[in-house]
Amino acid sequence: MASQRRTFAIISHPDAGKTTLTEKLLLTGGAIHLAGEVKARGQARRARSDWMKIEQQRGISVTSSVMTFERVDENGDTITFNLLDTPGHEDFSEDTYRTLTAVDSAIMVIDAAKGIEPQTRKLFEVCRLRSVPIITFVNKVDREGREPFELLDEVADMLALDVCPMTWPVGMGGRFEGILDLADGSVARPEGGSKEFLGKVDENATIPEEFSEQAELAQMGYPEFDVEAYRGGDLTPVYFGSALKNFGVVQLIEAISQYAPPPRPQPSEAGPVEPTQDEVSGFIFKVQANMDPQHRDRIAFMRLVSGTFKRGMKLTPSGLGKPIAVHSPIMFFAQDREIADTAEPGDIIGIPNHGTLRVGDSLSEKNDIRFTGLPNFAPEILRRVQLVDPTKTKQLRKALDDLSEEGVIQVFYPEIGSQWVIGVVGQLQLDVLISRLSAEYKVEAGLEPAPFATARWIKGDDRKIEEFAGFNRANMARDRDGAPVFLAKSSWDVGYQQEKNPDLGFGATKER
Ligand code: G4P
Repeated sequence: MASQRRTFAIISHPDAGKTTLTEKLLLTGGAIHLAGEVKARGQARRARSDWMKIEQQRGISVTSSVMTFERVDENGDTITFNLLDTPGHEDFSEDTYRTLTAVDSAIMVIDAAKGIEPQTRKLFEVCRLRSVPIITFVNKVDREGREPFELLDEVADMLALDVCPMTWPVGMGGRFEGILDLADGSVARPEGGSKEFLGKVDENATIPEEFSEQAELAQMGYPEFDVEAYRGGDLTPVYFGSALKNFGVVQLIEAISQYAPPPRPQPSEAGPVEPTQDEVSGFIFKVQANMDPQHRDRIAFMRLVSGTFKRGMKLTPSGLGKPIAVHSPIMFFAQDREIADTAEPGDIIGIPNHGTLRVGDSLSEKNDIRFTGLPNFAPEILRRVQLVDPTKTKQLRKALDDLSEEGVIQVFYPEIGSQWVIGVVGQLQLDVLISRLSAEYKVEAGLEPAPFATARWIKGDDRKIEEFAGFNRANMARDRDGAPVFLAKSSWDVGYQQEKNPDLGFGATKER
């Protein structure tokens, strides 16, 4: 049932503890039995492909994936959690943005010593744009950290949100004595990590007075938790804890099952599509090629929006116009991939394909639904690709097509000349491009500056666009879909052309 699904992402600055927390959530959810497996698997995967080295070197995670696990909640209901991993780097805002279109809520992890860092704030803003409610997890309280009050105020100030502490650290660093659950006054202590009930906060004698006073102040000084305010994006509940030492993780997972919203309606051209609608529909938010270098697979990740999907079902992708039968939909569990026989709204299924499915495609039984809000962003860095071996043009084209479908880069085919221009939002994407070209496609290539600073999608009447193109051939290109693009020498140029051509739109984003 859709009401028992929780589809969420974890957002954080690199090193805040996302991997560790993911692992503990999976453990607590019973999905894996040994700590270290998420990492171990990660490392095995990294060892296989060259471009993953960048990830290791820079200590960031570049790919995003899906992990599904189940847990029985307090009422005996089985809740299915779909955890979407987001790349923890600002350069990948485009990919992250798309991942956030597929979730209903997010957990923001911050490091108790560092507070909110700029990248995390950017991710938060994206969440806000998508009205994705946020639960905050202040990690690493077992280390020396900043004052809890100071951290709460920083979250409140920087995010312009109400904050509501749900757990409280009993000391930090060398004085760390456990985590107090403010709802029931129980304390989880370091010895054995078990939860000991120590009575109500105010009559608590066994935690140092200093901390019980603090906790009391914390409870009084902030608004009470209000689930509607949280779901509306006006309040964030804050959990202090330690992913490494497994404190506060149970409370966090309970918060997701109790408070995080179930699958919500998704915006479409004809209005919101409700999860309860019978017709099966979904959209592709990510495509990943070469997940397994042994088998050249290419998987499109679909978020199911409505209906009950059944294996073998025929769905029509908006980009293709004719139906495809989905015979081997994949569900991603912590340790395995499995063929899914059914899936419910909120679930993510992987659809193996050979290039028919693209990011932004809507899929539906009757081909009558077009989801909105999955934009392409205007690239801020444009480069020409230079082949070391000119006989590899065909391989290069295939690679650029694949990688642009994945959203790693954007490709533009200029109307004049034969050198393709690639566009990215951040520098790191260029490194990934070059190393993946070499590792996965055996294409050695370099990059050279392109005489353009940015790109704009031109919108308007066909005749007007053609007229404009006639005057600006040297700056005209087509994107992968054949849409006309103006490659501008500067942002000033964009403004100038816009003024000169008021009937045309120069879009910095393109809805897919
Ligand atoms: P990330 O995915 O957000 O990049 O962070 P990751 O989980 O890899 O954690 C970054 C570092 O912080 C790791 O240490 C991890 O062990 C540590 N860490 C995570 N949570 C906690 C916590 O609650 N308390 C403490 N004290 N440390 C925590 P590392 O030394 O960089 O890696 P490793 O050698 O331990 O694997």
